[in-house]
Amino acid sequence: MIDREIVTRAFDQYTALYNANDPKIKLKIDHTYRVAALCAKIARSTSIRNVDMAWLSGMLHDIGRFEQVKRYNTFVDADSVDHAQLGADMLFHDGLLEQFKVGLSKTEKHILELCIRSHSAYRLSVGLNETETSYCNVLRDADKIDIFRVNCDTPPEEIYNVSSEELKTSAVSEEVKDCFRNHTAVMRKLKKTAIDYIVGHVCLAFELVYPVSREIAREQGYVDRLLSFESDNPDTKNWFEYMKNNIWSPVEQETDSCQ
Ligand SMILES: [Fe+2]
Repeated sequence: MIDREIVTRAFDQYTALYNANDPKIKLKIDHTYRVAALCAKIARSTSIRNVDMAWLSGMLHDIGRFEQVKRYNTFVDADSVDHAQLGADMLFHDGLLEQFKVGLSKTEKHILELCIRSHSAYRLSVGLNETETSYCNVLRDADKIDIFRVNCDTPPEEIYNVSSEELKTSAVSEEVKDCFRNHTAVMRKLKKTAIDYIVGHVCLAFELVYPVSREIAREQGYVDRLLSFESDNPDTKNWFEYMKNNIWSPVEQETDSCQ
């Protein structure tokens, strides 16, 4: 029902309409392919039956990014448009999904739309059934894993829109530290200083749902690279040491207690 070659070709044709010389467009094309591959890899370790569906959710999850960049030249949803809703509207309301020639049932379409709409939400809506939750979590995990990579490959000054000086000297906000201590993601409104953004991205590791996702993230090493940031602020330096020593320990403790 899902022909990966046809989907890939349709994705290439769609993105060819945007300026490939724009690094933001290139970044999202590359991100899409990696997320799709990660979705398939993670899905294979779960009870998900249709791995191709998970792959497809990865291929389409950020389709709204291209229009967002074209219209607003930013990835900041708060300053422009909610890219997840924009992409889902284009696919499911404006007929864009037809270009990908996928023969999906009504239920599959519903799941795909749900995955795309909720991929960047702080939390999934309550009341989803097991199948809906699994597909959504696979995409959310895959997206987070690749966000670690993007954050290492792109200069932080560019991503966070802050100066190198600010990054080097700023202190981590107490509320952001609490998020790390509580092993939870950092809500946007809590990030007040430049360095809070890096800690916020590190904390995404706590939100990975599937053990295989944590394994992949750990193996890739991008979280550890984020944690190797060298601050000139003594308090931030100490805090990063603390994070390095504790970022992966919860999983090990849980694993130990199960053995
Ligand atoms: Fe996204």
